[in-house]
Amino acid sequence: MKHRGQTSLTTKIAVITGASSGVGLATAELFAKKRYNIILAARGVEALEKAVSKCNALGSHTVYKSTDMSSAEEVKELVEYCLSQFGRIDVWVNNAGVMASGKFEDIPMEIHEQVIKTNLMGYMHGAYYVLPVFKQQNQGILINNVSIGGYLPAPFSAVYSATKSGIKGVMSGLQSELSIYPEIHICNIYPQIQRSTGNMHSAKYSGLDFKIPPFAADPMETAKVIYKLTLKPKKDTFPDVSSYMIKLIHGIFPHTFTNLITAVMRGMMKQAKGKDDEGNILKPSKEPHQVYGETSTVLLSDSTKRLVSIGLIIGIGLYTATRIRKNIN
Ligand SMILES: NC(=O)c1ccc[n+]([C@@H]2O[C@H](COP(=O)([O-])OP(=O)(O)OC[C@H]3O[C@@H](n4cnc5c(N)ncnc54)[C@H](OP(=O)(O)O)[C@@H]3O)[C@@H](O)[C@H]2O)c1
Repeated sequence: MKHRGQTSLTTKIAVITGASSGVGLATAELFAKKRYNIILAARGVEALEKAVSKCNALGSHTVYKSTDMSSAEEVKELVEYCLSQFGRIDVWVNNAGVMASGKFEDIPMEIHEQVIKTNLMGYMHGAYYVLPVFKQQNQGILINNVSIGGYLPAPFSAVYSATKSGIKGVMSGLQSELSIYPEIHICNIYPQIQRSTGNMHSAKYSGLDFKIPPFAADPMETAKVIYKLTLKPKKDTFPDVSSYMIKLIHGIFPHTFTNLITAVMRGMMKQAKGKDDEGNILKPSKEPHQVYGETSTVLLSDSTKRLVSIGLIIGIGLYTATRIRKNIN
């Protein structure tokens, strides 16, 4: 059977969710440069149209399907659409995600519930409908953009953290379940804070109004790590030194480390004057629809960033060790 977008048997087909901005858009652009045929999914049509034009200008055959990942029915239709367009799916990138920050009880319950539906259930919906396709093809790669929040709680974003550790739980279970299929892979990546539009789109309560810190990672670099997983799949990946170091230090001093970063946020909240903003939780993201978001100060070069991250982590480690020693004595 001939499918509309299929150019050759060697052209790979990818579905990327949350592809209209931030890390998802960076990933779509990179896959386009690699000549993938791509289906982009998100809710907002205007942003998707813009993303499709960019990808096609980079030499790919890209289409979109407006999809709310929190709806199982819409995700099922997304898979059916992809099969009708391209006949198979080689790579599925679960990336569509939202975040609400603030004191737990200041955030409306409807917002908390939708964060769970989009992040946890959205990734689950993707896996549920694409894995049968992979089994039928006897191959396929599912990549989950989890977050370092899958390992440690993001401060004042309790429900976001629940969704990210939930994704890690579901996907670890599925990795074992699929271990008898050598050509089907589930890969999880755990990036640290990104210099993406995510922070501009997120919901903010309790007066919070923060910008992306200068040590945030480049979403284009995260996209490169996602692409590399299509060439050499791996179960768990920390895409940069900082995310690995954060995981390491949290593993050694879990409570002190988490309390320390929460204290920093508590300090920010004391002077915060932002208005409650439900961001893109219930409705499609507003402008900007681009890869990069606004940073708080001047950007640091990659090597300075690495040095600052290592310095910060060593500092936090020393501080934590001193506190623990004091508690013991
Ligand atoms: N930003 C960070 O610091 C950071 C760090 C680690 C991991 N991550 C993870 O990276 C992923 C992308 O984040 P980002 O920073 O790139 O955010 P972003 O720029 O706000 O992009 C989010 C994307 O998801 C889509 N989306 C949101 N809700 C959706 C829904 N219900 N159904 C379908 N699509 C939906 C958005 O489009 P529409 O609104 O139009 O639907 C947009 O395309 C998320 O999973 C996030 O948790 C982010």
